[in-house]
Amino acid sequence: MSKIDLKNVDFETLIIHAGQEPDKAYGSLATPIYQTSTFCFETVEEGAAKFANQIPGFVYSRGGNPTTRAFELKCAAMEGGEDAVAAASGMGAVGSVMTAFLHPGDHAIFDTAVYGGTNYVATTNLPGMGVEVSRVDTGDLEAVKAAIRPNTKMIYFETPNNPMMKVTDVRAIKDIAGADIRVVVDGTFAPPPVQHVLQLGADIVLHSITKYINGHGDALGGVVIGRADDIRLIRANSVTKINGCPPSPFNSYLVLRGMKTLALRMKQHCASAMEIARYLEANPYVKAVYYPGLESHPQHELASRQMENGMYGGMISFELKDDVKGLSSFAAGKKLLNSLKIPAIAVSLGDPDSLIEHPASMTHANVSPEDRLAAGITDGLIRLSVGLESAKDLIADFEQAFAAI
Ligand SMILES: Cc1ncc(COP(=O)(O)O)c(C=O)c1O
Repeated sequence: MSKIDLKNVDFETLIIHAGQEPDKAYGSLATPIYQTSTFCFETVEEGAAKFANQIPGFVYSRGGNPTTRAFELKCAAMEGGEDAVAAASGMGAVGSVMTAFLHPGDHAIFDTAVYGGTNYVATTNLPGMGVEVSRVDTGDLEAVKAAIRPNTKMIYFETPNNPMMKVTDVRAIKDIAGADIRVVVDGTFAPPPVQHVLQLGADIVLHSITKYINGHGDALGGVVIGRADDIRLIRANSVTKINGCPPSPFNSYLVLRGMKTLALRMKQHCASAMEIARYLEANPYVKAVYYPGLESHPQHELASRQMENGMYGGMISFELKDDVKGLSSFAAGKKLLNSLKIPAIAVSLGDPDSLIEHPASMTHANVSPEDRLAAGITDGLIRLSVGLESAKDLIADFEQAFAAI
């Protein structure tokens, strides 16, 4: 057991120590990679007792693995949740929540704008399984209230959402949902310490670990955090059964390593994003900047209440004006991206390297043009994941790229 009282420490201390103990075998401080599919029992009786959960231990890595368990416990502590279950990717986490809680005849409400993969689940997979889905702007609380049916089982949204950076009021949505409807939040764009959505009333928070939480762009992963009984169900029914999608022990090790610097990294991502958002807002070629930290953001006041310590995340979306040096916003945007030297043209986010992409042709290409427009995703929209490079260097790079259009 840790000597540290983790209930009474700051996030910076918690995120380094939670979930990890020096290893019992040799005292290794770093959690070892238990690269094994199965675990041996001394006797048949021991095996039977472990299978029956009468004694603790591991039996098979699809159901649990010591390296992955340390990662799960660190994630539960990170969000202040009772328990967590890890998945092989963010979509593994999304799919596992769906298959655990939604059944034929149930109804779920999804925000109008969610990540393209999740959008596919809402528009195709769930209806195919006999689940009714309503798409509602979760920023419009009256519309959410009006969409609730007797068979509604889940309200699902991202905050801030991908790629519009819309902020949804978690507490207000839980008040509408009441006890019987699960409020599920994808917190990928702003993990702790930027916000703690379980404390705001969400029943379940999930993350694509691939992004900020691992933070190094070298591993896929997902996690779901919430009440112990919900997590037990997701693990037993979904992650280890229909989806069979736990992360590899090696990826769990990478995530544990990455999480040690989460607090430090998020502070830097947020500070640089604020500087770059202000720079873009003042740029004569830019029509609109979507960043919750800007006073011009429609939910800035809500974001300031819901997000913590003046941090608003490291993601910015922006749109160029319709006529940039005689080019359409889309054509000018392509030239801008091709001229930038520091940000890589790539999807994903939360890496040390800045990443820039075009949602309409990349992350949200599988969303229909009508649904994209309904969500505000125009053909000229550009999404930037602000990395850990110097903000000054990034702004200088944008200056030369705008000049090159
Ligand atoms: C908000 C959000 N949720 C979930 C996912 C899916 O995560 P993964 O790529 O790890 O499956 C993504 C991926 O970009 C995302 O942006």
